[in-house]
Amino acid sequence: MTGLRQLGDRMTAENRDDLLQSIEEESGRMSRFVANLLDMTRIEAGTLKPKLDWVDVSDVVQAAVERTRNHAPGRLIETGIAADLPLIRGDSVLIGQVLFNLLDNAVKYGGDEPINVYARRDGKDVVISVTDLGKGIPPEDLDRIFEKFYRRGKPDGRAPGTGLGLSIARGFVEAMGGKIHAESPALRKRGTRIVMRFPGSEK
Ligand SMILES: Nc1ncnc2c1ncn2[C@@H]1O[C@H](COP(=O)(O)OP(=O)(O)OP(=O)(O)O)[C@@H](O)[C@H]1O
Ligand SMILES: [Mg+2]
Repeated sequence: MTGLRQLGDRMTAENRDDLLQSIEEESGRMSRFVANLLDMTRIEAGTLKPKLDWVDVSDVVQAAVERTRNHAPGRLIETGIAADLPLIRGDSVLIGQVLFNLLDNAVKYGGDEPINVYARRDGKDVVISVTDLGKGIPPEDLDRIFEKFYRRGKPDGRAPGTGLGLSIARGFVEAMGGKIHAESPALRKRGTRIVMRFPGSEK
């Protein structure tokens, strides 16, 4: 940043581009962090009142996937949305934020292979899952990862983060009457799957 200010035009276009990219990344991270802190504060203050509208899961998934693609352009994200999904009762902004937090984790911890987002009907419920093929999570940590500030592994060399994304996800999902849990391994002895379940509109 100082380099950019001091050298200005004398910097090569490539160097300037690199610097601007890291500034962009850093400010994106900062605004996600602040958004997470505010979300957590709202959950803890008990002032979170989700709107309970009828939500089309397919729309919310597409929007969250688009948002993730913008912030991780190189990553392949595949979606499989069942055609017969009932609407669910919830707040599309909150569900979108939850999906984004799960996708952000899949990008950070999920290795290089494609990420899958599925939505299907199970009886009267709608089940939405985000699956990656990364290193996965040992059984003893599958519940702890939803605790506030809990992060796995050694501080050095791990992806940036605060340990808030999943606790916010659980707070939001439960406030809308749903449930969320983690499964690992997800597929072929690898990876992580986060599964959400919401009551559907049809009786
Ligand atoms: N898909 C995943 N694969 C492997 N580990 C995961 C995955 N998702 C979450 N984790 C583990 O659970 C921890 C908690 O996740 P959470 O999203 O709450 O916080 P974070 O990603 O560390 O930080 P933040 O979401 O606040 O940026 C992570 O630090 C990571 O160790
Ligand atoms: Mg996270």
